[in-house]
Amino acid sequence: MLKLNTRFMAGASVVAAVLLMAGCTQNSAEPKETKVAAKATIDGGVAYPVVNDKMGPYYVNPQVAAVAPKINNGRIPTANELKAWDKDIQAGGKGLPEGSGSVEEGEELYEAKCVMCHGDFGSGGGGYPALSKGNAYELQKTLTNNRWHDPEADGPTRVFGSYWPQASTLWWYIRDGMPHPKSKTLTDDEVYALTAYILNINEMEIDGEEIDDEFVLDREKFARIKMPNVDGFEPKIDGPDGLENVRNYYANPKNFGAIKVKPSERCMTGCQEETVEVVRIQGAGISDFMPPMSVVRDAPEEKKEEKIDPKEVYNNTCAMCHSGYLSPGSAEWKPFVAEGMETVYKKAIEGTPNGMPAKGGTDLSDANFKLVVDYVVNGK
Ligand code: HEC
Ligand code: HEC
Repeated sequence: MLKLNTRFMAGASVVAAVLLMAGCTQNSAEPKETKVAAKATIDGGVAYPVVNDKMGPYYVNPQVAAVAPKINNGRIPTANELKAWDKDIQAGGKGLPEGSGSVEEGEELYEAKCVMCHGDFGSGGGGYPALSKGNAYELQKTLTNNRWHDPEADGPTRVFGSYWPQASTLWWYIRDGMPHPKSKTLTDDEVYALTAYILNINEMEIDGEEIDDEFVLDREKFARIKMPNVDGFEPKIDGPDGLENVRNYYANPKNFGAIKVKPSERCMTGCQEETVEVVRIQGAGISDFMPPMSVVRDAPEEKKEEKIDPKEVYNNTCAMCHSGYLSPGSAEWKPFVAEGMETVYKKAIEGTPNGMPAKGGTDLSDANFKLVVDYVVNGK
């Protein structure tokens, strides 16, 4: 497993380096056989020429072809695997499967599968993103807040309800990516239920109808969800003119605060054709946002000592992450135990930056929690 990973990473960085080099020479020396098509492909704001339906830097650089076979030491995905990934869920809910789920069911699922990372009612903290900070319509108004003149002022609150332009993205995101790390284990109905619950905790409405505890979300209702920030993004990528809007937008560097470089000229200094004013966040950068990108992993308050069954706690809470990886009694624990059990306890109680939540997201006393650690480490 580890071997595969490192090999993949090495391959990826080679490709990145090759792409960088390709980017450098793009303006000055086009390879001879290049026939630039009328339109360019856009990738992350950079326009690449298209040759024989392939993006220039990928196609014309022979070094990519040289490393590609070495990266690809996997296998062809099966038809079913492809089907699982191949879901095109679009703005407004086009492409969503049939199904439904209620806020109530969503809450139950949330408590079982999401709360350990995303906090009570999606409040976040513990280093994981918040899924709600209150009323989506009110919070959307904070998006234009800035601290340019007053570093102490409230910044924008960017969570699903206030910020995301399309609710369909939430459905897709949960279905494809959550619960981390056991993604793709939820049924379509469960994803509808979780989406309904997250709409509910963001205090959203559909056609003036409050999304209360009784609310049942289905595909038909989905099309009527209007996110408060649907018009808050540029360029406009949805609809038939989406691609043209994107092309026009990126044709003008001023639109995205980029610097325009003189074309067809190699240069080291004085390359800028014009300077664009770039807005920067004052102070400590991204950690200044609301909700803060927290790195603090607060241990929950201790409860009164009670007798616990470590195996049961493991099954209910730890197994979510510790089955298959650092599972009970597994040899993978060796390097951890080698640091001494006191260190293992301490790190597990405080949480680690690599994904272990403080006390695994439980509110056990230190003594009880250590019993669970013993169980996970020794398998008994
Ligand atoms: C093991 C921890 C963990 C669990 C359990 C988990 N998530 Fe997440 N979730 C994350 C992390 C980490 C991210 C941020 C990923 C990123 O930004 O790349 C995230 C991001 C999200 C986001 C996007 C938030 C945003 O504003 O960007 C949603 C929505 C979400 N999770 C929903 C869920 C739901 C629903 C469940 C339960 C079915 C769940 N998560 C379970 C760790 C977890
Ligand atoms: C959200 C996922 C998640 C949950 C839930 C979770 N763990 Fe972990 N745990 C991890 C990850 C990831 C690591 C590896 C972190 C690292 O390498 O620093 C880890 C590491 C540990 C370690 C080793 C700490 C060290 O660095 O020495 C212990 C002990 C541990 N977990 C115990 C538990 C127990 C007990 C529970 C349940 C009460 C639990 N974990 C729940 C993800 C989780």
